[in-house]
Amino acid sequence: MAEIEIKNLRKEFDEFVAVENSTFKVEDGEFFMLLGPSGCGKTTTLRMMAGLELPTSGQVLINGEDVSFKRARDRDIAFVFQMYALYPHLNVRQNLEYPLRSQGNPASLIHEKVAEVSKILKISHLLSSPVGRLSGGDRQRVALGRAIVRDPSAFFMDEPLGALDAEFREEMAEELRALHDRMGATTIYVTHDQLEAMQMGDKIVVMNHGVIEQFGAPQEIYDWPATKFVADFIGFPAMNFLPLGHHKVSVGNTFVAYKDYQIDVPACLEEFDGSLDVGVRPEHIRLSREPGGIPATVVASEYLGTTQIVSVEIDQAILKSRVSSTEEYSVGSSINLIFDYRSISLFDHSSGRALQSEGNREVLACG
Ligand SMILES: Nc1ncnc2c1ncn2[C@@H]1O[C@H](COP(=O)(O)OP(=O)(O)O)[C@@H](O)[C@H]1O
Ligand SMILES: [Mg+2]
Repeated sequence: MAEIEIKNLRKEFDEFVAVENSTFKVEDGEFFMLLGPSGCGKTTTLRMMAGLELPTSGQVLINGEDVSFKRARDRDIAFVFQMYALYPHLNVRQNLEYPLRSQGNPASLIHEKVAEVSKILKISHLLSSPVGRLSGGDRQRVALGRAIVRDPSAFFMDEPLGALDAEFREEMAEELRALHDRMGATTIYVTHDQLEAMQMGDKIVVMNHGVIEQFGAPQEIYDWPATKFVADFIGFPAMNFLPLGHHKVSVGNTFVAYKDYQIDVPACLEEFDGSLDVGVRPEHIRLSREPGGIPATVVASEYLGTTQIVSVEIDQAILKSRVSSTEEYSVGSSINLIFDYRSISLFDHSSGRALQSEGNREVLACG
């Protein structure tokens, strides 16, 4: 078992701060995602958690024990990298046996373990193949197998599916999640792909420029982003923002004004006086031909099978609405926008921070 916690973990490379003071806790058995754009500090965070990089300051605790200065090999964890680090001159069986041999296990146990793991990963028929001849997906399975045979208490994976093509990635993502559910070992997984994180993770940490923007379950983060960065990074199309300009909100307010119109929102829980943006997901904008709502003009529509993305213009802003494909919205036509008030976020335009409301109260409180 492994419960992993980091406290005020920080990494500087000379003057450059790669990871700001990061704090979060990974519960035992969780599938935990470190998500963010390239260069935001995911790998550096993971390497510090694993003991491959020394922190500038802060702590790493595994099961309550401070391991900040313990080396990786003394932490009972296994790595799976993007570049499957296999021994090219060995076959699949030898690659799988390698970590067990270096631990000095008896031959019978090695044989048993390799058989078990290759069955789980569906590579039993490949055991005598040279790894050089395997497809990308199979190579990645062998790399996983090499991590799994050791029975570590935690797995650390850095973009393990990044090198696979889309079709394999999807398949391996499902397999990885199923494997995790079966083994139950704590897994920390780095990705820049928000879909992968949403699909596989129990919890997600969203990072940007070395800073943790939000920490929570996928649905919490999707429904109630703590910042505009998260709102924009998660979900496709991203959350829409409608700038209101300078606006004053008081505790208990249940609507904001956009020109002569009123936009209902979940009750506000904080005072705010500044530049304000309304945030609404595409599926929470309804397009109505009845009177009422905010008038807009259809500027484009994109067919996606059962749904379509309809772009509408109000003043200078373009908003995207996800609606059923059964309706037709012709370009240039007038339409009224109705926002689902239960799902609306308000953001401080300058800092990007979400205002506390009845909607996001629990989510932002734990972040
Ligand atoms: N050894 C290093 N020396 C100097 N800068 C580094 C080093 N490792 C990473 N960085 C910088 O730290 C930042 C975060 O890197 P990294 O953790 O690899 O990001 P990510 O994995 O999110 O893409 C990047 O700007 C990167 O250039
Ligand atoms: Mg990286």
